[in-house]
Amino acid sequence: MTLLLDEIAAATVRLAEAGVDSPRADAETIAAHVHGVGRGELQRVADGEFDPRFWNEVARREAREPLQHITGLAYFRYLELEVGPGVFVPRPETEVMTGWAISSLQDMDVAEPVVADLGTGSAAIALAIAQEVPRARVHAVEADPLARQWAQRNIASCANSAPHTRGRVTIDEGDFAGALPSLSGAVDVVISNPPYIPVGATVPPEVAEYDPAGALWGGEDGLDAVRVIEGVARRLLRPGGLVAVEHGESQGAAVYWIFAEERGWRDTRNHKDLAGRDRFVTAQLAGSEPEPEWKDGWHERTV
Ligand SMILES: C[S@@+](CC[C@H](N)C(=O)[O-])C[C@H]1O[C@@H](n2cnc3c(N)ncnc32)[C@H](O)[C@@H]1O
Repeated sequence: MTLLLDEIAAATVRLAEAGVDSPRADAETIAAHVHGVGRGELQRVADGEFDPRFWNEVARREAREPLQHITGLAYFRYLELEVGPGVFVPRPETEVMTGWAISSLQDMDVAEPVVADLGTGSAAIALAIAQEVPRARVHAVEADPLARQWAQRNIASCANSAPHTRGRVTIDEGDFAGALPSLSGAVDVVISNPPYIPVGATVPPEVAEYDPAGALWGGEDGLDAVRVIEGVARRLLRPGGLVAVEHGESQGAAVYWIFAEERGWRDTRNHKDLAGRDRFVTAQLAGSEPEPEWKDGWHERTV
């Protein structure tokens, strides 16, 4: 362990010098991955067991390859997802929006709620919903064939680890602009983490070089895809259905106004991520949702 601790300390210095945000945590995660133990079990690695492949993987991280590409894994809510070249690495901020959708679905008085995840990538959002809302049916829409392969793989392994998700998540190929025509007016929740970075913005090397371009760039103001999603959500949702859309920290006001009352939305709200930054907008589709039946209590409630 002494040797491994020394190597981890040296790797931490190298990663910090390369501009990595969390050098110690990344060095420990790489050490754990290479030695086939959990991060909390690194003490168990004896000096004689030190695996020099540690330094190959540290060099990859030093070149700013994402940690998740090195380990091949990303964690999202209760899921362990496979990720790598060709798919967007799911982010912690998206867990908060997904949690909002999960709570809303759990509160909904609908036997088998229908959900559309527009731009599913690794299927992180779709699978988290299927795992945590066992009655939900989730349509995971994705245009990129490489990303769809990762999504398919994750859906298959989740069906083994959480059998109640089997058959509940369907991948729908193609552009979300025309997605799911047969479900128009029948969807309970539309959720999306779309590309929203304004073209020309500076992003870290992990993002620029490893996340697929189609997952990142959203036109001049970053909101091209959000505007499309607003129209798609309006078409897909039943009256009273809910939409949640992620955005960049400076886009909260602009996205709020995209889900405007004049377009048929009500109860539009801004939400923050765990770091307190504006991160997603939710809204409800107005329309002729059935009025609650007061029955016997009607007089009491109206006088
Ligand atoms: C920011 S990533 C989000 C992936 C995943 N939902 C997540 O949160 O980790 C956006 C995803 O949307 C997909 N995408 C972008 N434009 C699309 C479009 N017009 N139709 C369908 N998918 C699209 C990209 O390929 C990418 O996988």
